[in-house]
Amino acid sequence: MTRIFSGIKPTGHMTLGNYLGAVRQWTEVDQHRGEALFCVVDLHALTVEHDPARVLRLSRQVGTLLLAAGLDPAGCTLFVQSHVDEHARLSYVLECTASDGEMRRMIQYKEKTVQAQAAGESVRLSLLTYPVLMAADILAYGASEVPVGDDQTQHVELTRDLAVRFNQKYGQTFVVPRATRPTVAARVMDLQDPASKMGKTTVGTGGVVFVLDEADVVRKKVMRAVTDSGSGAVEYDREKKPGVANLLEVLAACGGGGTPEELAGSYASYGALKKDVADAVVEVLRPVRERHAELAADPGYLDGVLREGAARARAMARPTVDAAYRAIGLMPAG
Ligand code: TYM
Repeated sequence: MTRIFSGIKPTGHMTLGNYLGAVRQWTEVDQHRGEALFCVVDLHALTVEHDPARVLRLSRQVGTLLLAAGLDPAGCTLFVQSHVDEHARLSYVLECTASDGEMRRMIQYKEKTVQAQAAGESVRLSLLTYPVLMAADILAYGASEVPVGDDQTQHVELTRDLAVRFNQKYGQTFVVPRATRPTVAARVMDLQDPASKMGKTTVGTGGVVFVLDEADVVRKKVMRAVTDSGSGAVEYDREKKPGVANLLEVLAACGGGGTPEELAGSYASYGALKKDVADAVVEVLRPVRERHAELAADPGYLDGVLREGAARARAMARPTVDAAYRAIGLMPAG
C-alpha cells in the first residue's frame, strides 16, 4: 500500500494557501488512497524567533483544524512531531549524509536569512539544517509520496538526494519519495503582493486569508486584492497579470466550475470576478470553521487522537531508523 507523509508547521494561523495547496488534498484524496501520516511539525517552528506559548497554542489549533478539515483518525495517522523521537534521531544521521553547500543552496534558507537579518535577529543554526529534519520526517516512514504545495519542491528533491546517497553508500535503507502537488492552487499568492507566496507569517497587510477568518473578513480581503492597473479584459496570464491569475486559480480550486483559463472568459470585470472568488472561498472555508469551533470545545478528543497517532507513528518509524543506525556503523545497544 502507498505510504504517504506530509506535515504543517505551527508558525502561524493556517492560511487559504495551506488549505488549497496541501490540506484539502490530504483530506479529500490522500487519506483514502494509501497509508497516510500527517504531522504537526512543531520542531520546525523553532527555527526562527518564536514565542513558546504561541507555538504551543498553534500546535493545538493546527491539529484541531486538520480534524475539522476532514482528516479521519480511523483512516490515517495524525500526530505531533516532537512526540516521536525518531525524527530527531534520524535527522542527525542525515546531517552526516548532507553537505554544508547543499544546505546553503535552499531557497527558503536564503529568503529567511535575509528576513532575519533585516529584523536584526540572528540566524539559528536549525534554520540551515531544517531541510534535513524534513527529510528525516519523510524517510523515517518509508513514505513514497509527499503531498505538498509548490514551495516545498526543493526540500523534497533534497530528501530524494539524501535517500539515494545514503542507500548507495551504506546499503538499501530508505524509500526514495516524490512530491505530489494539486493541479491548481499549488502556489496561492498574497492578495496584496501577488509576486509573493501567501504565507502564515506575513503580518498585517490583509493579503493573507486565514482558514479561521470570519466571512466578512474574507470578503474584505478578496475585494481589496491587487489586480493590475489596467482595466483590461479578465485574462489568465501569470506573468503579465499575476493578481488576476491568482484569483482565477483560487476560484478554480474552490469549485468555480472550470480551469482558470476557462473561467477568465466568463468575466467582464475584475469586480465581478472578485465577488465570485469571495463567495467561493467563504463557502469552502465555512464548514471547516464551524467544525473547528465544535472540536475546540473538546480538547480531550484532540489529545486522544494525537496520543494514539504518536504511538502508531513511533512503531512505524523505529525499524527504519534502527536500520539506518546500523547501516551507518553505529553499535546496537546490548
Ligand atoms: P508549511 O507549514 O509552510 O506549509 C504546509 C503546506 O502548505 C503548503 N503551502 C502552500 N500551498 C500553496 N500555496 C501557498 N501559498 C502555500 N503555503 C504553504 C506547503 O507547500 C505545505 O505543503 N517544510 C514544510 C513542513 C514540513 C513537511 C515535512 C512537509 C516539515 N516536514 C515533511 C512535508 C513532509 C513547511 O514549511 O510547510
